[in-house]
Amino acid sequence: MAVSSAPGKVYLFGEHAVVYGEPAVPCAIELRARVGVEQRSDAKLRVHAEDLSLDGFTVEYGGTTDERPDVDVSESLVSAAMGYVDGAIEQVRDVTGEHEVGFDVTIESDIPLGAGLGSSAAVVVAAIDAAARELGTTLETDELAERAYRTEHEVQDGQASRADTFCSATGGAVRVEGDDCRSIEAPELPIVVGFDGGAGDTGQLVAGVRNLREEYGFAADTVASIGDVVRRGEQALADGDLEELGRLMDFNHGLLSALGVSSRTLDSMVWAARDADAYGAKLTGAGGGGCVVALDPTDETETALSFTPGCEQAFRAELADEGVTRLE
Ligand code: MEV
Repeated sequence: MAVSSAPGKVYLFGEHAVVYGEPAVPCAIELRARVGVEQRSDAKLRVHAEDLSLDGFTVEYGGTTDERPDVDVSESLVSAAMGYVDGAIEQVRDVTGEHEVGFDVTIESDIPLGAGLGSSAAVVVAAIDAAARELGTTLETDELAERAYRTEHEVQDGQASRADTFCSATGGAVRVEGDDCRSIEAPELPIVVGFDGGAGDTGQLVAGVRNLREEYGFAADTVASIGDVVRRGEQALADGDLEELGRLMDFNHGLLSALGVSSRTLDSMVWAARDADAYGAKLTGAGGGGCVVALDPTDETETALSFTPGCEQAFRAELADEGVTRLE
């Protein structure tokens, strides 16, 4: 049995625009998915999820069993989670050349599914790392990030950027622009997360932005403006200027809102953080529901969020310096 963990992430800047080649800056946070993988004597894949912010479910397939779990979240989310594990295992079969191998896979995750905190990337990174090690192959971080990216790209119908998977594999703060991914220095960031308990559909939200961009030139300009915000944000990060970072996060949220990927609760949480004098706040990830990220060294934002209608959880998130971690 091999067990690996990988962190989730928040986007300081640049989600959605990164899909069109603009830069983005995600940061890994200390919320992790842990994946245990054990080789089977047959070619089946059996997946058990202890907690994907679902009630727990087991699906076995590749053989005669295909039990659909009885859970109170949308079927599409469950199917998406299964698709990611399936894709991750395919990558391991490919990289090791062992095409007939089967696995029992157990997933435990602190990261809510589809909430903008990189749950799928963390599961994919940890699953590929653990399954490859179970077969005696330890992948270099770049190879791991590449294989994880291919998995997301396939599951998300060719609409994924490298940002989530690279960040989860390497940890820390990273800069992604097209195929160019690298770690960057970041000051200590007083990150606060607000979660509305919901989840957006990344594929649909990305497709929505694509349609807007095709229909309206000013939507394409909005995407390009996000790129400009990110470039200014990188300078603010390098200068350790938290006030400027916050102003730029506010700006980034406004542009994402214009692209139609915010929601009433995300906007309420962003405004609660602003009213609490956070340096700035924005939605993180694909949007539509899920999480906001704010910067505030005091307790004010966390407290304000916890009283905001629609906010189910508010918590402080530490930057995760380590990406994939080998536990067993
Ligand atoms: C989703 O976490 C981030 C998006 O930019 C999509 C992607 O980069 O693959 C919306």
